[in-house]
Amino acid sequence: MPAVQMTAVSKTYRRRGRPPHRALDRLDLLVEDGGVHGFLGPNGSGKTTSIRVLLGLVAADPGGGAIRVLDQPVPDRLPDVIGSVGALVETPLFFPGFTGRLNLQLLAEAAGLPRARVEECLELVDLADRAEDRFKGYSLGMKQRLGIAAALLKQPRLLILDEPSNGLDPAGIRDVRELIRRLGRHGRTTVLLSSHLLSEIQQVCDSVSILTRGRCVASGPVAEVLAGRGSGDVLVQVPDPVAAAGVLQRAGFAVSPADGGLVVHAVASPGEITRALAGAGIYLEELRRLTPDLESAFLALTGGEHGPAGADPGTPA
Ligand SMILES: Nc1ncnc2c1ncn2[C@@H]1O[C@H](COP(=O)(O)OP(=O)(O)O)[C@@H](O)[C@H]1O
Ligand SMILES: [Mg+2]
Repeated sequence: MPAVQMTAVSKTYRRRGRPPHRALDRLDLLVEDGGVHGFLGPNGSGKTTSIRVLLGLVAADPGGGAIRVLDQPVPDRLPDVIGSVGALVETPLFFPGFTGRLNLQLLAEAAGLPRARVEECLELVDLADRAEDRFKGYSLGMKQRLGIAAALLKQPRLLILDEPSNGLDPAGIRDVRELIRRLGRHGRTTVLLSSHLLSEIQQVCDSVSILTRGRCVASGPVAEVLAGRGSGDVLVQVPDPVAAAGVLQRAGFAVSPADGGLVVHAVASPGEITRALAGAGIYLEELRRLTPDLESAFLALTGGEHGPAGADPGTPA
């Protein structure tokens, strides 16, 4: 069961006196259960909008698209799943004059959680020895980690973090990255981490989806998506591309949605695709080798001024 599934989801912002802006353009996104999944794209590519749609904070355009979170349709069944989803989308609001511990205790109390859970979360984010300091005295990195602790209180099965290292100094970035890696190894929680920094995704994530102009242009294991692109790409047409993408990703392939089908990357022998899909009861309608067309989409993405190839303050030059 995937943690997150978006199929052909669009979101158009309508702004007074300005033309409507399509922030998500028939976006397909698949996040398998477990590990840390990166959501990589330049600024303005639609990462925050996607996350807001997943959390029911904004409505997707009506008609067509489908969204599932922890296998429940969103927004219809959101009340059933929201208790299993933790999120850090903006800088969370805490009482500046209260200690980190008291801030978490108030949240835990409001959610009917035991005090012991507060201590566990303080340990998890490595703030236990600063828990009696006032929030306003925390560094930005500590504030962000307290925000992650707050999102972890209810032991979410899905943790969504929207650019959690934005604005942090190098030490803060390192601490937040270590924390996310640790959470990923924990096993119980699937982490969806958005970032505009390629290096961050490479350091932290197991799998990645690359977003540009509201569309997903590549998806799969980080090493395969980010290395050796454009060689051995194969176009696959199947009746149910979402199901097929899941099967192929589980079989270790890097997969991107393409018009009406899937592109499978770095395929040594197309027979492997046929075997994996047939093994899951999915039968091919078409299989065709591609010239490296997708690579130009990828280059356009990473070559952009604000693209993920940009300087990363967290990585020494
Ligand atoms: N509330 C809004 N009203 C109008 N346009 C918006 C709004 N929020 C985001 N946008 C636009 O939608 C696009 C995607 O934004 P966003 O989802 O924030 O991207 P990202 O998080 O990847 O930087 C951008 O062009 C942005 O300007
Ligand atoms: Mg954003």
